[in-house]
Amino acid sequence: MNIDINRKDEHLNLALEFQKIKRQSDFDNMDFIHDVFPNIDMKDVDISTSIAGFKLDHPFHMNGMTGGSELTKSYNEKFAILARETNTFMAVGSLSVALKDKSTHDSFKIARKQNPHGIIFANLGADKTLEDAKKACEIIGADGIQIHVNAAQEIIMTEGEREFSKWLDNISDIVDNLGLPVIIKEVGFGMSRNAIRQLKEVGAKTVDISGKGGTSFAMIENSRRDEDDKLSFLNDYGNSTVVSLLESQQYMDDIEIISSSGIRNSYDIVKSLSLGAKSVAMAGRFLKLVNDLPMEEAIDKVNNWKSQIKSIMTLLGAKNLDELRKVDIIVKNEVKNWCEIRNID
Ligand code: FNR
Repeated sequence: MNIDINRKDEHLNLALEFQKIKRQSDFDNMDFIHDVFPNIDMKDVDISTSIAGFKLDHPFHMNGMTGGSELTKSYNEKFAILARETNTFMAVGSLSVALKDKSTHDSFKIARKQNPHGIIFANLGADKTLEDAKKACEIIGADGIQIHVNAAQEIIMTEGEREFSKWLDNISDIVDNLGLPVIIKEVGFGMSRNAIRQLKEVGAKTVDISGKGGTSFAMIENSRRDEDDKLSFLNDYGNSTVVSLLESQQYMDDIEIISSSGIRNSYDIVKSLSLGAKSVAMAGRFLKLVNDLPMEEAIDKVNNWKSQIKSIMTLLGAKNLDELRKVDIIVKNEVKNWCEIRNID
C-alpha cells in the first residue's frame, strides 16, 4: 500500500486508541462562578453563531480528519451522514493525497455525495500552493478550505516536511486569491499571540487554534515508529487549548477564533465560547462517536450537546454568545501561571 494511504489508516486507528486514554485537561483549570439566579428563561437562549461567513444554528462543528483509503472513505461517509442529520458544518481531512492520486478522490467525494447541501470544507497543508488549494476545493465541491499548520507534527514524523519558509507566503496567496473562505488551523499544538498576529498580517480572517490536550499527533507519530525506535519525542510540546484561547484574546475583534482539541463535552464547548471562541471544533470526539455508536444514537448524542449548551448558558444567565463572553470565569494552576507570565488579564 502507498505510504500516504497507509498513514491515513494508521492515524485513524491510533486516534481511536488515543480516545481511550484519559488525559489531564486545562479545561479543568477553568471554572464558572455559580451565581444562583439566572434571571432569564431557557426559551430566550440563542446558541447560533457564524463562522467564515456561514451562519450556524449551533456553535460546534466537525474538524478535518480523513480520506484517502477505503477505510477512511467509510468514516467520511459516516461523518457526512451525521453532519447532514444534525446540520453540522464539517471538514474532510487533508486532500494532499488526492492531488497526487486520482483513485483516492471517491474517499473524499463521498462526503459531498452524502451531504449535498451541507457546509463542507476541504483541507490541505500550508506547504501547498493556491493552485493546489483550488484543485482540492474542486474535488469535493468545497464551500471553503482549512489550511493546516502542523510544523510540530512534521518535525516529529520521520518522513515529515522540513521546509517551512514559504508557509506564510502560501497562506497569504490562498487567503487573498482563492475566492472561498479559508480557516487556518493547528492540529493539536496550539497557537501563540505571535502566531495570531502573523496570521492577521497575512490577511487570515478565521483561525482554529487547535491546542494541546486533545488528540496528540506527537504521541501518534511517535507510536508509528519501529518498535526499537519508539520515542516520546516532544510528547508534551505545545500550548494548551485554553492557553491558546487566552493568547488570542487581543485579536478577537479582528479574527474569528475557533477553539479545538481535547473538547470532551458540552461544558468544554461552553467554556471555549466564554473565552471568545466563535465556534468549537471536535475531531477525535466525533470519530469515537461514529465508531462506537449506531448512527441513530450518534445523532441523538449530537442533538443532546445542543440542548446541553442551551441549558448551561441558561444557568449562567447568558442569552447568546455575546453575553456568554461577559460571564466571569476563574482560572487556576498552570493556566493561572501562564496568564501571569504572559500578562493576560
Ligand atoms: C486529524 N487532524 C487533522 N487535521 C488536519 O488539519 N488535517 C488532517 O488531515 C487531519 N487528520 C486527522 C486525522 C485524525 C484521525 C484525527 C483524529 C485528527 C487533526 C484534527 O483536525 C484536530 O486538530 C486534532 O485532532 C485535535 O482535535 P481533537 O481530536 O482533540 O478534537
